[in-house]
Amino acid sequence: MEQLLQQLESWRKEIDAYNVPGAEGAEQFRITYLGTKGLVKNLMGEMKNVPADRKREFGQILNEFKQFTEAKYNSLKEAGENGQSAAGVDIDLTLPGNVIPVGSRHPISMMRNRIVSIFQRLGFSVAEGPEIEDDWHNFTALNLPEHHPARDMQDTFYISTHPAWLLRTHTSNIQIREMEKGKLPLRIICPGRVYRNETISARSHCFFHQVEGLYIDENVSFADLKQTLYFFVQEMYGNDVKVRFRPSYFPFTEPSAEMDISCQLCKGAGCNVCKYTGWLEILGCGMVHPKVLEHCNIDPEKYTGFAFGMGVERPALLKYGINDIRLFSENDVRFLKQFRGVV
Ligand code: DAH
Repeated sequence: MEQLLQQLESWRKEIDAYNVPGAEGAEQFRITYLGTKGLVKNLMGEMKNVPADRKREFGQILNEFKQFTEAKYNSLKEAGENGQSAAGVDIDLTLPGNVIPVGSRHPISMMRNRIVSIFQRLGFSVAEGPEIEDDWHNFTALNLPEHHPARDMQDTFYISTHPAWLLRTHTSNIQIREMEKGKLPLRIICPGRVYRNETISARSHCFFHQVEGLYIDENVSFADLKQTLYFFVQEMYGNDVKVRFRPSYFPFTEPSAEMDISCQLCKGAGCNVCKYTGWLEILGCGMVHPKVLEHCNIDPEKYTGFAFGMGVERPALLKYGINDIRLFSENDVRFLKQFRGVV
């Protein structure tokens, strides 16, 4: 018993001196001294070993010890909440703060968002589709039947355990999936990742990104296509950009065209980026082929539409002055962090 009283005295000193700062310090104190397995609970358990004639006296001492401990806890807690240590010493506000690293948007995401938002302002809404696709949506429905030579331009990756599946070679699969839903008119812009079986170099990769557009309604004409795309390039590159359309071939459009803009680097004078032509090819487009409409149960006598598709990497290379497409997917933080704060 005497020994216990002595012990209490030394605990009292220990508690008095306790000075771990902050809310964590207060919590640690609570667990050690007041918790369910803490000192005070243990001492209460000792009551049963105290001789009956001293129980009252010992009970009072213990109670007083408990109140002392609780008072200390309350002051620690309060100090913790106010950002002070129990000794009342202020935190040094001149110390540097904890640095929270801020990430950056990927240049491909920034370019995709730019493109998409211009079309959204024209009333196009965003549609997406699967990257693992079947032959019908990637090729056949787009008027690229099996053994058609145009398929050679878009070799891709097949899945050996599921020969009917492939990685989509363009975002045009989304056109088909949206038209199949049967809701017209349709005005969509479709961003996404696409794949091609190509050798990787500074200029080409086995995967890249595209944005596809599609507008189907009654009386949609080539003039609408031209005006929409003209608006787009002016918003994107400024009012002094020049545009030209060259006849081209895509199985899913008729007629088809390729659209070029005046080279943004040399302003049309000729440089090694535009191969001294003064023009940069930026997208393919055309009027949706009647066969494609028929494949999606749309009456080509009643409805017409235009479509276009463009790559995202190329404009991003030009805008941010990047000279190697592989940088986009290497995840090198030294490259990525240069885009901090860029929108
Ligand atoms: N899918 C074509 C490609 O990847 C791009 C394209 C051209 C999409 C013309 C279209 C279009 O919708 O009308 O090369």
